[in-house]
Amino acid sequence: MDYEKLLSFKYLKVRPCKEIKGSVSVSGAKNSALPLLAASLLTEEVELTNFPVLLDTLYALKILQALGKEIALSGNSVRIEGKISSVKVPFELSSLFRGSILFLGGLLGATGKAEVTYPGGCSIGSRPIDQHLKFLEALGADISVESGYIKVKLPSEPAVREFTFDVITVTGTENALLTLVRFKGEFELHNVALEPEVIDLIEFLKKLGVEITFKGRSIRFYVPPNGLKKGKVLHKVIPDRIEAGTFLVIGALLGNPLKVKNLEPNHLEAVISKLKEVGVKLKIQKDSVEVYRKEPLKAITLETAPYPGFPTDMQAQFMAMLSVAKGVSVIVENIFENRFQHALELSRMGADIEIKGKTAVIRGVKKLIGAPVNATDLRASASLVIAGLIAEGETTIYKIHHLLRGYEKIDEKLNSLGCEVFLGKT
Ligand code: EPU
Repeated sequence: MDYEKLLSFKYLKVRPCKEIKGSVSVSGAKNSALPLLAASLLTEEVELTNFPVLLDTLYALKILQALGKEIALSGNSVRIEGKISSVKVPFELSSLFRGSILFLGGLLGATGKAEVTYPGGCSIGSRPIDQHLKFLEALGADISVESGYIKVKLPSEPAVREFTFDVITVTGTENALLTLVRFKGEFELHNVALEPEVIDLIEFLKKLGVEITFKGRSIRFYVPPNGLKKGKVLHKVIPDRIEAGTFLVIGALLGNPLKVKNLEPNHLEAVISKLKEVGVKLKIQKDSVEVYRKEPLKAITLETAPYPGFPTDMQAQFMAMLSVAKGVSVIVENIFENRFQHALELSRMGADIEIKGKTAVIRGVKKLIGAPVNATDLRASASLVIAGLIAEGETTIYKIHHLLRGYEKIDEKLNSLGCEVFLGKT
């Protein structure tokens, strides 16, 4: 597990790219792989295929090892086996990425006990976990904070059989689903997140014998009297809709055409609809989308929302694209309070962006100019790669570990399309 190698890279140099013609294959979804890895605690053997090998998933595998699991990673398949020997998620690992909070649910579902810290990850706002804890309190869990760790112990029977989230939270919903396998019988969750990654976790839990049905944003969760099924679980991680969307944006700017393969078009409806609005031509097939660049692109207005709305994780990439669209675009970020840090870096490349609270006003400019910039979070770094590809002159993106947390082999993928991007260490 070579995460030290990925961490050794300090910057990415991006040279201007005139056009892209060819195809690129999307990896498995990071935000699906993480809850699935947490779910691997629930049974003795799991094999995940289409598994994305990137910093966050490698960190998560380290956590599983620290909890006693044996890991065999081979290409894009990973086997997780063995028994849990510890219920404490070490701070050195949990502080590295936000998704580590999912081991709270995984451990509680598997053992009824967990010790975790507040998670790390992208600095895109305060990112509380009050909803995760409120759910556990409602169940009647014993929760204490000791030496920086949140210690949780579940009761043998839940105090309630129904819970409503105050806000729609992706990992909060996933943690609740993971925890609930502990209790036989029926439970109802309301105001849940319905992101494709949540559904992927649900598909995995069904393979363990849990019965799960939906009605709008409500889930009925039922663990049969004989508990979870034993035996190996084989599961294919869904395609990464955010990586797919990132390449579609690159295609909208440079594709002649660019075919983005191994994606699920249904998961990208909001993104595809906004790409059509900016004026690009798309050819949508069963598991691929071909995108043809368009010049000039049209300015648009968009706002982020929980799925099936426009994803916050695509906002930065759209901002890079809209910075060279004709006219004035408006982006409203409704999910995270501090997710416009890329605007400043894009401005250093010549973009004209004004931020007022949760609204960004982007006045399209004729061109961007390459510059040294800082990656401030994962999707911000993707927006800078996009800007670098269309800019005049070379761009160097520092703090590149952010990009490598969530995009598998992005340098290799772009170079295979004829771009020139290079990871560097010194
Ligand atoms: N929120 C609360 N209380 C909570 C939990 C969330 O107020 O207890 C608020 C947040 O502050 C935010 C909103 O609810 O305003 C939504 O946050 P959510 O909990 O849904 O985010 P998350 O689960 O921490 C996941 C993804 C993010 C993605 C968001 C939104 C993973 C590991 N992370 O985060 O992915 O942006 O959902 O879709 O699944 C990324 O991949 O770059 C990334 C940041």
